[in-house]
Amino acid sequence: MKNVVLIGFMGSGKSTIGNLLSQMCDLPLWDTDQMIEVEAGCTIRRIFDTQGEETFRCMETALLQKLCREETLGVFSTGGGMPLRMENAQWLKKLGTVIWLRLSPDTAYGRLKQDTTRPILQCEDPKGRITQLISERAAAYESAADITVDVDDKSKEQIVREILEALEENET
Ligand code: S3P
Repeated sequence: MKNVVLIGFMGSGKSTIGNLLSQMCDLPLWDTDQMIEVEAGCTIRRIFDTQGEETFRCMETALLQKLCREETLGVFSTGGGMPLRMENAQWLKKLGTVIWLRLSPDTAYGRLKQDTTRPILQCEDPKGRITQLISERAAAYESAADITVDVDDKSKEQIVREILEALEENET
């Protein structure tokens, strides 16, 4: 089976779904946010605070290039902003089949309203920010994706089932 690369907005379930997929397909799970935190020796929030978002985005691109170069195998759960840089879309596709877990602003807000770990959402109006970002990012997610799966109101088992079906169709 080809690598699976999950993209999508914060709260779309990339880590949870990635975890289930990796177990079912018996492939290792790679979480790009976690890998960057280990490499940097601090949290993403701290990277944003001390070095700024641009430095974080450079770390994301460098990691993606390394994963491609080393031909890493597995299921990849990527940070929500990973497909934003044009060049990253090409690396994501090189890494594996890219699956966009698409969710609505309402679902995202419901899942993220208590969150303190995502620097981008620490603002006065997180709901407005989520709505704006989802709309701004939709085109980037769409162009990076090979497969789109809507996740609103679905169980994780159902989402995994849809992904596996879509992967099978995609490969035949
Ligand atoms: C970000 C999403 C986060 C993390 C960082 C920036 C974004 O990852 O990479 O806080 O710009 O959407 P998750 O999508 O895993 O929360």
